[in-house]
Amino acid sequence: MGNIRVAVAGVGNCCSSLVQGVYYYQNGGERLGLINGEVGGYGIDEIEFVAAFDVDRRKVGLDLSEAIFSEPNKVPRVAELSPLGVTVKMGAALDKLEYNAGVVDVAEEVETNISAVLKDVGADILLNLISGSALESSGFYAKAALEAGCALVNATPSPLVNGEWSGRFEEAGVPLVGDDLLDQIGATVVHIGLLEFLHERGVRVDESYQLDVGGGAESVNTLWKTRELKRDIKTSAVSDAVPYEFPLVSGSTDYVDFLGNSRDSFFWFKGRYFGGAPFTMDVKLNTADAPNAGAILLDVIRGVKIASDRGLGGAIAPICAYGFKRPPERYPLAEAYKLFKEFVEG
Ligand SMILES: NC(=O)c1ccc[n+]([C@@H]2O[C@H](COP(=O)([O-])OP(=O)(O)OC[C@H]3O[C@@H](n4cnc5c(N)ncnc54)[C@H](O)[C@@H]3O)[C@@H](O)[C@H]2O)c1
Repeated sequence: MGNIRVAVAGVGNCCSSLVQGVYYYQNGGERLGLINGEVGGYGIDEIEFVAAFDVDRRKVGLDLSEAIFSEPNKVPRVAELSPLGVTVKMGAALDKLEYNAGVVDVAEEVETNISAVLKDVGADILLNLISGSALESSGFYAKAALEAGCALVNATPSPLVNGEWSGRFEEAGVPLVGDDLLDQIGATVVHIGLLEFLHERGVRVDESYQLDVGGGAESVNTLWKTRELKRDIKTSAVSDAVPYEFPLVSGSTDYVDFLGNSRDSFFWFKGRYFGGAPFTMDVKLNTADAPNAGAILLDVIRGVKIASDRGLGGAIAPICAYGFKRPPERYPLAEAYKLFKEFVEG
């Protein structure tokens, strides 16, 4: 079926985990942790990284296999990579305020012509994995992907599917999916899953919150730049899990640097079951943040390639519903997964 040629914008923690994971599975790593070994005929072996863009001086100019371990990335090393032959090129640093906060140390190099590179390397898909607060730059990468006729996966909370871009990608016949990736076992999906479970068991939920503490660069961004946007996306994703309204908060809270890429997620539920008997439930989840994106990204990449193979353009609803926190149409978790499977199996 040919390879899937993937370009990445943002060589941060998520990218590191994804590139390491692909290398690990392609080189005989135990096949645990994947949701699907194969998606519509595509395995992991077909995935190939062909271009990478970042703006941090500690990453630009390095081979992708080295850049993924450069500061401030904190992802544990699970694979010893050989050079990939992909040099990280200078991207577009448009969101100045965030960079001044010291999260990203911007290189002085001249910005690359992104769409020309995407065309040159024949990229099928551009993954937008840049900092969540880089809203303007996300729009820039959307434009570059569109100019190159390259599908776009928006893992960031920037409103691309939910903004003006869906229509433009549809007109051009190029697939677009997003916004804000839904993790494999991250706080939002676990919160939705627990609420769906309580509802199915006849329980009435009266109050619930979910709050996170993390140590990655993305936690700094969330704390200082995208707190409201992130809380809005997470709370609206979770509130659809039961068919009634109740006091609900879901959002990131704080940054604790020594946690590194580790994230603690706290869940609280209060409600009533048989005969109005009260209950409360406290749950704590500890995960490494970046590997939480890998399995879903691998499914999404293959789903998007299938959409391209079929000549589809615009927001691909079943992929958005399965893989993202803010899709154009939301479904219960099991139904979203079923729609995704039906889509990729044709
Ligand atoms: N499990 C997850 O990690 C997860 C889940 C859902 C969504 N996301 C989203 O994925 C994105 C990446 O997350 P992360 O943890 O890898 O973040 P990160 O901070 O570790 O990495 C972001 C990378 O983007 C680079 N960057 C910033 N602005 C750029 C620009 N204009 N052009 C090119 N590169 C740029 C930074 O230098 C950095 O290398 C974030 O937007 C995050 O919200 C991640």
